[in-house]
Amino acid sequence: MKLILAFSILFLSCIHGASSDSGFFTAMYSLGDSYIDAGNFVIMAAALDPPFPSWHDRLPYGMTFFGHPTGRLSDGRNTIDFIAQEFGLPLLGPSLLNNYDASKGVNFAVGGAPAIDVDYFERNNIVQFKLLNNSLSVQLGWFEQLRPAICNKTEISGCGGCFSKALFFVGEFGVNDYNFLWFAGKTEDEVMSHVPTVVQNIATAVEGLIKGGAVYVVVPGNPPLGCSPTMLTSRSGLNTTEYDDMGCLIDVNRVATHHNSRLRVAIVSLRGRYPRATIILADFYSPIIMILRNPSHYGVAEADALRACCGAGGTYNWNGSAICGMPGATACDNPSAFVNWDGVHYTEATNGYIADWWLHGPFADPPIMSVVRY
Ligand SMILES: *[C@@H]1O[C@H](CO)[C@@H](O)[C@H](O)[C@H]1NC(C)=O
Ligand SMILES: *[C@@H]1O[C@H](CO)[C@@H](O)[C@H](O)[C@H]1NC(C)=O
Ligand SMILES: *[C@@H]1O[C@H](CO)[C@@H](O)[C@H](O)[C@H]1NC(C)=O
Ligand SMILES: *[C@@H]1O[C@H](CO)[C@@H](O)[C@H](O)[C@H]1NC(C)=O
Repeated sequence: MKLILAFSILFLSCIHGASSDSGFFTAMYSLGDSYIDAGNFVIMAAALDPPFPSWHDRLPYGMTFFGHPTGRLSDGRNTIDFIAQEFGLPLLGPSLLNNYDASKGVNFAVGGAPAIDVDYFERNNIVQFKLLNNSLSVQLGWFEQLRPAICNKTEISGCGGCFSKALFFVGEFGVNDYNFLWFAGKTEDEVMSHVPTVVQNIATAVEGLIKGGAVYVVVPGNPPLGCSPTMLTSRSGLNTTEYDDMGCLIDVNRVATHHNSRLRVAIVSLRGRYPRATIILADFYSPIIMILRNPSHYGVAEADALRACCGAGGTYNWNGSAICGMPGATACDNPSAFVNWDGVHYTEATNGYIADWWLHGPFADPPIMSVVRY
């Protein structure tokens, strides 16, 4: 208790020097999966013996912004890239690359990362292939390893603490956990039964970071996976009663919304226990629904709303035997006229809208810019 009190007093007496709006955060650290991976999957997969194939290590990935593949799973920037730019920070490099300036931030996210440790899915025969060992807890381990190079224990807390002006991201997590289960043919009840563990793991990670000195933590929820070309194609031919008015799968989205509401409860509880930390709940669900409900407002043709930009045909322009990056798949001419990039991930244009709504509202609680103090 004494320790907590001491920290509180330190925080209360914080007087931040004048700084510009855009320069408030001096570093960003992110844990997550393929929605924000900036190259870790490609590096991990290539290091395996035999190497695990990646399909996003080549064009058309990166075609819009970078002009070359970066390991990001989009045609351009992801959401945290836009947010880093807003604060004048460099785009975060993948942690496994080791040639970045860690003092300005590092991205630990890896494509395919679940919130539950990967051996759970292997042991229970939920996946029939070897997974990369990239779960949330493994990423936290990488962060702990790097910590001494960024910040020494004695200086982690208070205004002078080296994380006091760092913006942390934890997630999105959960999509891979639920995807493994859906693709294994599990029922909605079975998928649903994993939600408490997934949310608990996320909450525990957030709590660990706060105890380690993090002050600002953004926690994104799950997107509407039931609207993704991959899921829609894989579970095609269902009774029309299984689809909502947008054409999305009701059961898959019900799990996502349940995850999101439990995540909110967990975050509210953490806020109560760590009042000096600012925990931002970022809504990853509503932005996509908002665009799908009114695609033309965002420059997307009605008929393309649920179709991937990059694919090989079919109703949703997604085919598992020729996914984006493989021979036979091609990208649309104008990715910004699509919501979805490759069947799972979003186009740079969509990522830009999401980032804007997280920074300025309405889809973050509270919006990131509203917590910036001078
Ligand atoms: C994953 O890595 C962690 C940390 O290095 C290790 O403890 C764990 O045993 C590994 N799990 C698997 C399934 O390889
Ligand atoms: C923290 O301490 C270690 C060991 O003394 C040192 O090597 C490292 O440079 C220090 N890190 C910072 C950010 O000062
Ligand atoms: C679709 O589901 C409804 C309600 O469960 C049922 O009445 C109908 O027969 C089903 N249609 C088909 C083609 O299976
Ligand atoms: C996917 O591609 C394969 C090979 O080109 C083809 O046989 C199959 O019909 C395609 N599936 C869909 C759903 O378009």
